[in-house]
Amino acid sequence: MDSLDTVYTEATAGLQQAKTVTELEAWHRDVLGRKGSVQLATRTVGQLSPEERPVFGKRINEVKRSLSDAYEERLAALKAAELRAKMAAETLDVTLPGRRSYPGRVHPSTLTLREIYRIWGDMGFQVYRSRDVESDEYNFELLNIPAHHPARDMWDTFHTTTPGVLLRTHTSPGQIHAMHEYCPEPIRVILPGMCYRYEQITARAEIQFHQVEGLAVGQNITLADLKGTLADFARRMFGPETQMRFRANYFPFTEPSAELDIECFLCGGKGCPVCKYTGWLEILGSGMVHPTVLRNGGYDPALYSGFAFGMGVERIAMLKYGIEDIRYFWANDLRFLEQF
Ligand code: DAH
Repeated sequence: MDSLDTVYTEATAGLQQAKTVTELEAWHRDVLGRKGSVQLATRTVGQLSPEERPVFGKRINEVKRSLSDAYEERLAALKAAELRAKMAAETLDVTLPGRRSYPGRVHPSTLTLREIYRIWGDMGFQVYRSRDVESDEYNFELLNIPAHHPARDMWDTFHTTTPGVLLRTHTSPGQIHAMHEYCPEPIRVILPGMCYRYEQITARAEIQFHQVEGLAVGQNITLADLKGTLADFARRMFGPETQMRFRANYFPFTEPSAELDIECFLCGGKGCPVCKYTGWLEILGSGMVHPTVLRNGGYDPALYSGFAFGMGVERIAMLKYGIEDIRYFWANDLRFLEQF
């Protein structure tokens, strides 16, 4: 009995000294294990009288239960403390400055395209998408530019290895696609897209650029409609005070044809390097759809008429934002792109 009490007292003291889970588990082995001190103490039962034995047995069980309860309690406390310490040691310092993220931006061409869509959308024109890879037939023939015609020189072309297949040099072939789809209904569409030209790249010319074509076909459409509509576009795009002029020109797919100039907003028409000292900036080509082109689209030119136009998106963006070199558009230089 005495020795059991001693074992209990020492074990309880030892339990308090165990400061980690590992130490506590060692304590458990030494005290409550198969060869632990409690087990050894039970062996003294042989020295007791038969009357004392049941009392001793009961006492043993009490000691075991008490110690193992204390062990469980201590184990839980130590585990919790270890977890707390671990969490304290591994916290993130959320006050550290983070890595800067760069939000995306809209490319100046896209920005300009969207503005053009909005204006023409307000005027009742729908966006019609057409292909980048075209046939000679659509890019030239059906637009009244036969193979022998010198006007072909106006469009230096990227041909593919397949004869008659090329990269479109302008968005005008989309006119024919639209007419084939809509005929005999009236048409009000704009045709945006990338165009490609086999040209020397300079500050003013790129081998790829966007155009927005426009096409209106219906009955009784006149040159007055062309002028009024394009003038309205120019005022919406460049401001209500915009001065403009229509200048006669030649395109094989329109007759008559005209180019639209707006007064140079840099010098106010006095003449400067941007307008090459003319006071005017060219923004688009246009004209009344040629009867042959109407016929190629399926419309009878005796009953239908229409106007068409085509503008260079990067050129308009250059005018609007004062960009002096078209090569910036595809150079992927963030110093340029971040300004929009
Ligand atoms: N396709 C012409 C070009 O790329 C631009 C153009 C001029 C389009 C007159 C038209 C137009 O629809 O009527 O130079």
